[in-house]
Amino acid sequence: MAKDLTFSCSECGASFRKWSGQCDACQAWNTISESKALSSGPKGKSLGAIRGKTIALTDLETQEKEPPRTQAGVGELDRVLGGGLVKASALLVGGDPGIGKSTLLLQAAARFARNGLKVIYLSGEESNAQVQMRARRLGLEKSPVMLASETNLRDILTTLEAEKPDLAIIDSIQTMWADNVDSAPGSVSQVRSSAHELTTFAKRNGMAVVMVGHVTKDGTIAGPRVVEHMVDTVLYFEGERGHQFRILRSVKNRFGPADEIGVFEMTGKGLAEVKNPSALFLSERGTPAPGSVVFAGIEGTRPMLCEIQALVAPSPHSQPRRSVVGWDGGRLAMILAVLESRCGVPFTGLDVYLNVAGGLRISEPGADLAVAAALVSAREDAALPSEAVIFGEISLSGALRPVVQTENRLKEAQKLGFTTAIIPQQAKQPRVDGISLRNATDLAGFVEEVFGAR
Ligand code: TYD
Ligand code: MG
Repeated sequence: MAKDLTFSCSECGASFRKWSGQCDACQAWNTISESKALSSGPKGKSLGAIRGKTIALTDLETQEKEPPRTQAGVGELDRVLGGGLVKASALLVGGDPGIGKSTLLLQAAARFARNGLKVIYLSGEESNAQVQMRARRLGLEKSPVMLASETNLRDILTTLEAEKPDLAIIDSIQTMWADNVDSAPGSVSQVRSSAHELTTFAKRNGMAVVMVGHVTKDGTIAGPRVVEHMVDTVLYFEGERGHQFRILRSVKNRFGPADEIGVFEMTGKGLAEVKNPSALFLSERGTPAPGSVVFAGIEGTRPMLCEIQALVAPSPHSQPRRSVVGWDGGRLAMILAVLESRCGVPFTGLDVYLNVAGGLRISEPGADLAVAAALVSAREDAALPSEAVIFGEISLSGALRPVVQTENRLKEAQKLGFTTAIIPQQAKQPRVDGISLRNATDLAGFVEEVFGAR
């Protein structure tokens, strides 16, 4: 067997010396295929023998200029980028197929082109006619964006070399193929070497490159996370199918804050930015019903209100269902256990459904208390006061912990017409005009305070 022949898994990227049917690392079946290892330069020559040139060193004090940024003029997009697109940077935009990545990037391309950047949109998935058709639908056909439909990396790099654009959009990285790597497009080694070539080219030529990556069913870009470490910024475009909201989330950003989100709405004419997401996420809320709670959360640097819904029903099964949309299932199990053992509110024999309205995904532990309130409210069939927001973290002992940015959350709640907040007791009580606070130190006290009088 040739020495540089290895086998790698197309799901997780693990590499092996020999083929097998199941990947030892991620347990996926039939995902291992032959791959050529990337060459790391000529063999047998140690670097020590070659004279290089010395590099100029600077100290930490020297003021380097901030990288120049170009804004798209779409507030939601610019914020996620950390204030605009940085020159000579590489971005990865991941998301489920059909979620709207191509639409988003075509709109962004038009915006950047209008703001003076030379933009090339390279589609490996659609023909020029298809992209033009979409542009017409979006009302962008007059934008000075250059199009090409190409998948061969060598041809793409030659074109970029000749045209010298400021921004190149590659849709998608899984369709690109480098002819020096012999495996199919979309395989780990193809994706890795295409992304590597494009990123180095971008850095060397002062061009920004945006690569689109399809997410596989388990939520990782390009199967393996092989590209994430190479690029400066990783954005995920997410949303529930059937909902019109789409969220662009930065999970890594070398030029700005991570975990920042931008909210968009998919309309008949493409994506429209949503400037006040709280109002939108709460707009479908009717009269207060048991199991419905308004949570005042923080997404990135921005407070955002949303509705958490719970339904609790007697289970016909010996093993009751626990079903979660938009939140972590493990965390739900924990809250149920704490409610049962610390507050005497058992959920045995009951099916539990939890949903974050509007297709939002919440990951902060500050939602614990709102989830617990929704669960108890659904179980007791008792609606919570409609003018109240709830947030706080629950620990395993049943104690409540304050969360970050309390004041910002309260201000957002006040702006949307809420007058009460039920939150953990904290040393320094926040004060926001128009919001009265109800405190609890532990979950049992909270349940007593909110549901006890009934
Ligand atoms: P697309 O950008 O092709 O998704 P991706 O590149 O992530 O695979 O978006 C596809 C979906 O968006 C498609 O189902 C139709 C919908 N869409 C609209 O609702 N309105 C529009 O104006 C456009 C262009 C697409
Ligand atoms: Mg697409």
